[in-house]
Amino acid sequence: MTNTYSEEIKLIAKPGEIPYAKGLEGIPIGESTKSFVDGLGGRLVYHGHSIEELCEKSSYEEVFYLLLYDRLPKESELKDLGRLMRSYREIPSELYDLIAKQAPRYGVHPMSVMRTAVSALAAYDETTEDDTPSEQCRQSIRIVSKIATIAAAIARARLGKPMLSPRAELSHAGNFYYMLTGSAPDDFYAELMDVLLILHADHECNASTFAAVTVRSTLSDLYSAVVAGICALKGPLHGGANEEVMRMLQAIGSLDNVERFLEDAMSQKLRIHGFGHRVYKIMDPRADILRRQAREVTRRAGTEHWLETAERIEKVMAEKYGQRGIWPNVDFFSGVVMASMGIESPMFTPIFAVGRSAGWTAHALEQWVDNRIFRPRFIYIGPEEEPYTPIRERK
Ligand code: SDX
Repeated sequence: MTNTYSEEIKLIAKPGEIPYAKGLEGIPIGESTKSFVDGLGGRLVYHGHSIEELCEKSSYEEVFYLLLYDRLPKESELKDLGRLMRSYREIPSELYDLIAKQAPRYGVHPMSVMRTAVSALAAYDETTEDDTPSEQCRQSIRIVSKIATIAAAIARARLGKPMLSPRAELSHAGNFYYMLTGSAPDDFYAELMDVLLILHADHECNASTFAAVTVRSTLSDLYSAVVAGICALKGPLHGGANEEVMRMLQAIGSLDNVERFLEDAMSQKLRIHGFGHRVYKIMDPRADILRRQAREVTRRAGTEHWLETAERIEKVMAEKYGQRGIWPNVDFFSGVVMASMGIESPMFTPIFAVGRSAGWTAHALEQWVDNRIFRPRFIYIGPEEEPYTPIRERK
């Protein structure tokens, strides 16, 4: 084990100790082979494979297979998964109707529509209550394949554009890009969407994965577990931060305002979205990869000013607050990348969910294999005993 890995493990409480940590900070809740977040070393591996190498050499389909089965697929296995995912992409017409009615409604967040649509999906899968391992893998593949179609349909319905049916000849990422934008991607955009989905695929025991495995630990169904993940991811402290980052960039406007904006926010103890992390205490490696991706996509889109402002924020934050362990996380540059792809910011978190559906389902299956229902404690700080006062005597 590398030095940082053993250091990291030392930080984690050993089984048998019963520490109390608000928000379960640093508390292990189980064992997993899916991914490891090295917070001290700033590394992320999916079953031992570095995120950098997977972004460079792999595909979302291959990473999904890796997370589901704990190994990279043989060529024939990857082809089979691709075929199965393509066959599962389409969603029932009733879901398009539901999305068409809900998505354009004023003030409705796309994550609320995604939550409803994935929940409704369960009613069209007659195997939902079937817990056999092979069926659970198929349910995982169905959910991961269909959630992309759902997200794209929501994006189009919001804009009053026709919702598009999947195209079988395109890869998962390529087809998702097509259904979102209406144009089949060139190699650059197909690869960029693939990298986005790979980067968001898994991240150990984050809040939304914890929500998903907690639901699965009661032996509730996989769709319920994924809906729980969607609910948790929506929050701006978690997956919703990428949308807030774009709001911040727009509020700052020009480079000259960056320093003052940050000083004001930090002095009011406001959160700078896209910064800080419960585990990473140095740069999130995904932010590094996305900053590099942002160079080319902002050049193509003519949105270099967003990247310039983001990099100025990063520089000022590092100089003034870096020693407090507040560094860019995955959400900081992902917004610049997705906005430069022409995607509206309320859709950033649904796209995060499309990627993370692989991790939610893989962890839910892993949890089920060696299940123990999650039942932590609260430290009770209420009164020990209270007399029952008849209502007429209560003051
Ligand atoms: C994701 O867990 C995962 O793996 C999540 C994720 C994944 O892939 O699933 O990586 C995705 O959710 C990334 C995080 C996206 N959220 C944001 O960008 C929102 C802004 N960040 C934060 O609110 C915060 O950093 C959290 C929620 C991410 C982490 O919070 P913690 O670990 O509970 O940190 P904390 O609130 O205890 O803060 C410690 C100190 C505090 O200062 P003091 O009160 O000790 O003086 O650091 C400060 C905080 O005020 N701080 C920040 C800050 N993050 C922490 N100050 C300003 N801006 C920030 N972003």
